[in-house]
Amino acid sequence: MPGDGIGNQVIPEAIRVLKAVNFDADYIHADIGWEFWRSEGNALPGRTIDLLTKHKLGLFGAITSKPKKDAEAELDPKLRWKGYVYYSPIVTMRQRFNLDICVRPCVGFAGNPLNYIRKRPDGVFEEPQINTTIFRQNTEGMYCGVEWTNPPDNVRAALNSHPRFGAFAKVPGEDLAISVRIITRTAAERIVTAAFEFAKRKGFKAVTICEKPNVVRETSGMMEEVAKEIQASKFPEIQLWRNNIDAQLMWLNKNPESFNVIVASNLFGDILSDAFAGLVGGLGFAASGNIGDEVAVFEPTHGSAPKYASLNPPIVNPIATILAAAMLVEHVGEDTKAKMIWDAVGAVVREGKVRTYDMMRLTGGPKVIEQGAASTPQMTDAILAKLR
Ligand code: NAI
Ligand code: MG
Repeated sequence: MPGDGIGNQVIPEAIRVLKAVNFDADYIHADIGWEFWRSEGNALPGRTIDLLTKHKLGLFGAITSKPKKDAEAELDPKLRWKGYVYYSPIVTMRQRFNLDICVRPCVGFAGNPLNYIRKRPDGVFEEPQINTTIFRQNTEGMYCGVEWTNPPDNVRAALNSHPRFGAFAKVPGEDLAISVRIITRTAAERIVTAAFEFAKRKGFKAVTICEKPNVVRETSGMMEEVAKEIQASKFPEIQLWRNNIDAQLMWLNKNPESFNVIVASNLFGDILSDAFAGLVGGLGFAASGNIGDEVAVFEPTHGSAPKYASLNPPIVNPIATILAAAMLVEHVGEDTKAKMIWDAVGAVVREGKVRTYDMMRLTGGPKVIEQGAASTPQMTDAILAKLR
């Protein structure tokens, strides 16, 4: 599912790498994105759902999404005013297949000039080896979609029954926006268990839960309670560390290398994973997996970057997508092939001869190639040359 914009540039690169490690698969194109919203009123057509249902493994590039007014204006005139509503195909995909486990590895490659560095009290700079994987609950929490501006009377009545709502009881409906944070025990158990299983498989000594149970007592409280129960009953050999989300972000600058596995609810996990990704190279390096019981979809974290989509040669960094492909390969148990890909990326970054524009801290645009940046396919070529 290349999708929109640079999704079409990076997915073919990842497939070149998958083929080069002899990953035994058929690659079936599936439609997703803005083009299908415009022409069909659905950014995730039913035929793509059918393909995912049948084949169960997806590699997804990126989609473009636009505000409501633009979405209506760009819809095929034949479809306009017929009740079509734009839904994010990613959110739809996550909900449709219950892809509730989001895994986001943030691993620093030695030699990456974008890596986080820290100044010691003696003035010497050091570059800690960051190897953090964030487990983000992907379907509930603040992103569950249950929200209102001007909530209907029955919702207001229910809210009025809560003693704390008294402070808002006189606010006019149109001035009142409400988003509900829902956490279910089942989903909490699944994300926490996934984090512990990963820690066990990779030999990490602790899992950190990042919530805010002292303030958001019910939902963050449920996350922490579940984490304590699962640790005690199933993973006594692995420690459970508990950090409040705000403190964890403050400590990002102190000792990010101390945290190998972090688990959090949806919004907190989203913020944490972007924060950690920023320490290890940013969007050009950030890969993620959306994993359910049946179906799993792997993707770079970045979007469709429309301003670079028509550059020839393409300039964007394919590494995030290549790492997403490596995650897919590991997900189906081909650990050796996955490691080959990670190692080849690591070798290219360490050598430092081939760098895309983002790795050189250049401003993106057609000029970056003459400024010495590698093009998208050149980066892949370098990775292919290191595979063994
Ligand atoms: P974006 O991630 O597309 O781009 C932001 C900036 O990050 C780019 O201008 C570029 O400087 C840099 N960048 C992104 N990918 C890169 C790569 N592989 N190599 C080097 N640099 C890279 O986010 P933006 O501009 O906010 O959104 C563009 C469109 O993408 C919007 O329509 C948005 O809704 C959509 N989007 C889709 C996502 C997805 O499909 N998962 C995620 C984020 C945004
Ligand atoms: Mg994000």
